[in-house]
Amino acid sequence: MGSEGQTVILVGFMGAGKSVVGRLLARRLGLCFVETDDMIVAREGKSVPEIFAERGEAYFRALEAEALDLLAGKRGHVIATGGGFPCRDGVMERLKELGTVIWLDGDFERLYERAQRSGDRPMLAGRSREEVLALYRRREAYYAQAHARVDTTRVGVDAAVGQILRLLGERQRAVRASPEEGG
Ligand code: S3P
Repeated sequence: MGSEGQTVILVGFMGAGKSVVGRLLARRLGLCFVETDDMIVAREGKSVPEIFAERGEAYFRALEAEALDLLAGKRGHVIATGGGFPCRDGVMERLKELGTVIWLDGDFERLYERAQRSGDRPMLAGRSREEVLALYRRREAYYAQAHARVDTTRVGVDAAVGQILRLLGERQRAVRASPEEGG
């Protein structure tokens, strides 16, 4: 199978580089790139911080559940999910049915620093470092269900994409050799 039939889903905490890695990965694979946050923003006609401020987190999570249903139509894409997107029971299983799920991770301190630096992130607002660390710890069990983990805090974007491309190649070879073990 060439890359045109593949779907790659990136999960991980805020600041892991899902957008920047995903965009470059999609370019290398010749696939389209989509972000679940952008699907939600397009549907609502509002930014993520506006949705949180006006409707609250529970409403945003309901929009994420809706976006999950729409991902079935995004085969042959690289999909970057929001940091909380896979952190409900059953979501990782569904993502793994769609394609290869890669957990972008690294040192918490670096993730936290990056997340604070770039973008307006409602999940950081009003939370101490300890509270954000506790959130990360709660989420790890979900992210860890991914097919593979790639550390993005010790290597640059190019190297992270290179690692993912190698992992995808290995998985494709494994699936070809033993189709029933591909999931
Ligand atoms: C969230 C992460 C954000 C965005 C929203 C909620 C979270 O995406 O979906 O602000 O719960 O961690 P990024 O992971 O791209 O920052």
